[in-house]
Amino acid sequence: MTAHPLQEIPYVTINATLDRLVLSTPQGPAMADFYARAFALAAQPDGPHWLCEGPQRHLHLRPGAKNRLLESHFRLDDPAALGALQQRIRATGTEVHVDLDRADGAFWVADPDGRRVFFSIGPQMQAAAQPGLQARLQHYALRSPAPMTLAQFYIHALGFVPSDWVRDAQGSVTAVFLRTDALHHALAIFRAPTEGFDHLSCETHDWNALRDWADHMAREGILLDWGVGRHGPGNDTFFMVKDPDGNWAEISAELEHCGPERPAGEWPHAPQTLNRWGHAPMRS
Ligand SMILES: [Fe+2]
Repeated sequence: MTAHPLQEIPYVTINATLDRLVLSTPQGPAMADFYARAFALAAQPDGPHWLCEGPQRHLHLRPGAKNRLLESHFRLDDPAALGALQQRIRATGTEVHVDLDRADGAFWVADPDGRRVFFSIGPQMQAAAQPGLQARLQHYALRSPAPMTLAQFYIHALGFVPSDWVRDAQGSVTAVFLRTDALHHALAIFRAPTEGFDHLSCETHDWNALRDWADHMAREGILLDWGVGRHGPGNDTFFMVKDPDGNWAEISAELEHCGPERPAGEWPHAPQTLNRWGHAPMRS
């Protein structure tokens, strides 16, 4: 890993944590049943929608195409910081939509692919520290044929901080990992032939807890699709299962905590970057 030359990118994060994702799916009942079993969530229908809720894990499903992320929701714990973030985003010329039904300053913006990114006030999510099947929704990943278009938006308009870049032999970006707080990434963007959702990830507290989650998947008859492995960027141990729509869903442990002066790293586009321990499916 070597330092990245883009010195104009700030290292100070917006101090936001991921709170909820909203996916579209053509098979809401099957997807809700999967996430209820795999991630120990309570799934409730809400009209045509499904609300899958657990402690620090919130996933909503709406009717639509598969492999699509409709919304990501981030929380900040400081109203002044939320207001400053809104001003900062407006200053970049990005259209900001204020939720007039709420008095807490919540707002959303659309990313270049039309997904809505929400910011509101709420308690910061904490790392799961209790024994047992604890994990919190912590990051998600997108696929794009033009990863730099998305990365430029999230970095320069929203203030996400790049932790690591992955480049191919020609120097083109094939992945970037962006953080919104001290944890290595809240969002990863992978180069892929088609645009879409890649995976969500719940962070558990340690290696033993990752084992317990794998045992839980076994009891539910859900086979691990990738891993157990260790990612290069982020240095977390992980495994992936696949939901009925073909999205990956990850349990991760011991993701790197980044200090405020940590320079962005550079990694080669190779399977060993995505999994230090072995096999890695390449998105491009
Ligand atoms: Fe991940």
